[in-house]
Amino acid sequence: MKSSSLLVANFKSNQNLSDAKTWIDDFSKDFKPKDGGEVVVCPSFTLLPLFKQYVIEHNLPIKLGAQDVSAFPQGSYTGEVNAQQVKELAEFVLIGHSERRTNLKEDEEIIGKKAEQALENGLKIIFCVQNAEQNIPKGVWAIAYEPIFAIGTGNPDTPENAQMVAEEIKKKTSSLPVLYGGSVTYENVRSFTNLSGIDGVLVGGASLDAKEFARILDLA
Ligand code: PGA
Repeated sequence: MKSSSLLVANFKSNQNLSDAKTWIDDFSKDFKPKDGGEVVVCPSFTLLPLFKQYVIEHNLPIKLGAQDVSAFPQGSYTGEVNAQQVKELAEFVLIGHSERRTNLKEDEEIIGKKAEQALENGLKIIFCVQNAEQNIPKGVWAIAYEPIFAIGTGNPDTPENAQMVAEEIKKKTSSLPVLYGGSVTYENVRSFTNLSGIDGVLVGGASLDAKEFARILDLA
């Protein structure tokens, strides 16, 4: 593990309260914290209070992240969860994920407003891009390079290409940390985290299994 790696679990729209309880119990049995690695778990909004309480009660050295944030401040925006509310439960937020760009039709304008709201409220943004050309708002904490063909397909990018894209992203962002995401498993995690240009991973499907995620962290 590098001195400042960022290892992120994105549960997406999975888990109910009982699954989450089992996950965190299992995870805390297997997780061996290491120096220098920051672990961020991003469950659904509904599960964040349970995670937060567990982390505090068990002094578990992980951080929490939300998978989304409203583009609007507090107010009459039915169904939205605003950045002030997120901040009570999480330190990080994912913005720009391709699943939201595609399924929720999030465009540059919405994504930019989400980033503004997150920054105004002191959230650390893990900003997802699908290639090195996409816009990256100012003030983000880290970038996750997640090529669409690799997300949830079992077909990760090649380490060589991931390294190349990560270097291009670093060039245009004054060397912000770049994570790789897309079909990361315990079998391939090292091929990415060993690379000089990759500062961590964002794990979707494989993070839903607490034991597998702990194993990925162990190997990262
Ligand atoms: P995956 O998802 O690990 O299931 O491919 C990654 C992501 O979309 O965050």
